[in-house]
Amino acid sequence: MGAALTTSRRLRLLETAYAHGIRHFDTAPLYGQGEAESLLGRFSRGKRDSITITTKFGLTPRPIPAWFRPLIPTARALNRRLLIPYRQRRSAQQDQLNQGLKDDSNQLKIEVRPASIAAIETPLAPPVANGPSPPVEYSAAVLRDQIETSLRKLRTDHIDYYLLHECQASYLNQPFLEILEKLVQEGKIRHFGIGSGRWQSRCIINQYPTLPWVVQIPDGLTDHDTSWFSERSSQHLFTHSTLRLSLEKGRGSEQHVLALWAEITNQNPERPGLLGEVLLHAALTKNSLGCVIFSSGNPERIRSNAEILRAATAYRPAAEQLLDALIAAPASTPI
Ligand SMILES: NC(=O)c1ccc[n+]([C@@H]2O[C@H](COP(=O)([O-])OP(=O)(O)OC[C@H]3O[C@@H](n4cnc5c(N)ncnc54)[C@H](OP(=O)(O)O)[C@@H]3O)[C@@H](O)[C@H]2O)c1
Repeated sequence: MGAALTTSRRLRLLETAYAHGIRHFDTAPLYGQGEAESLLGRFSRGKRDSITITTKFGLTPRPIPAWFRPLIPTARALNRRLLIPYRQRRSAQQDQLNQGLKDDSNQLKIEVRPASIAAIETPLAPPVANGPSPPVEYSAAVLRDQIETSLRKLRTDHIDYYLLHECQASYLNQPFLEILEKLVQEGKIRHFGIGSGRWQSRCIINQYPTLPWVVQIPDGLTDHDTSWFSERSSQHLFTHSTLRLSLEKGRGSEQHVLALWAEITNQNPERPGLLGEVLLHAALTKNSLGCVIFSSGNPERIRSNAEILRAATAYRPAAEQLLDALIAAPASTPI
């Protein structure tokens, strides 16, 4: 929804995903300034039984003042014509700058591997008693109100996966968790879980280990503790942002990853689009029992990503080799 597209184009993107076999859709009250749920509800008419939907609790868009509403179409058009091209130019300039820095002095090394390996083995400290307070009240009344709004916008009588959006352990309380379980019994939600960062999710799981959490986490190429989460998410592990994180974090490391992949698979490392494929294969291998989520405003990419998902099993041994190779060479690989 961030791509400033028209509603019909957004609906066509969802149709493209569906036509290519994608059957799970992730949304939230926050997304698209509150419009994403309604759009998904519109799209899912006649398809509801063949898809699963995730939506979330806890973050809502800031209300738009009444005086600004008539200006929204103009703001969107300006965004499309000026702001997005400007950001793209800035991003290209940054890439050039990074390339220069890398060529000059290799200054861009980002060493994340040793830290993430340590995170796998280090037991968590006991939960913090006083943490930050939540952006909305974690109470039965607010929860029921938000669920009813989401059900209405999604035009459905149940939500398959209901996640606590960017939740932290300090937000939770026993009565709130009991209501979540009650909502499952009532059939309004099928599963509940956490849609937060990796560290916050770990803290919540450790604090409430017996609850049947569904877990949804960002999963960059160099996050190597994904199996910790798949072992602990009772129904499903959803991973996301694999492309965004690795493409951003990995600036300068693309050639290294592509060279390793080319060596393992005998593919041409120069082939356009190969990096995205590699990242998706790695994410699918790390989360082979769960679900990998991506976003795209480009129908061709949606189609090709769906094909990658279909070929995932055949590429798993190669992706495992790639992940092992990246673990074996942490110091010299700026990822
Ligand atoms: N708390 C949470 O639960 C939480 C947090 C963050 C995200 N999410 C969910 O995860 C979804 C995905 O997250 P995300 O958008 O941050 O990350 P992502 O899907 O990893 O990255 C999206 C970006 O990757 C590009 N892309 C897509 N396919 C590509 C390919 N094959 N090769 C190269 N680039 C490709 C897209 O560009 P184009 O549009 O140009 O294709 C887009 O800019 C979100 O939409 C949201 O539903 C959930």
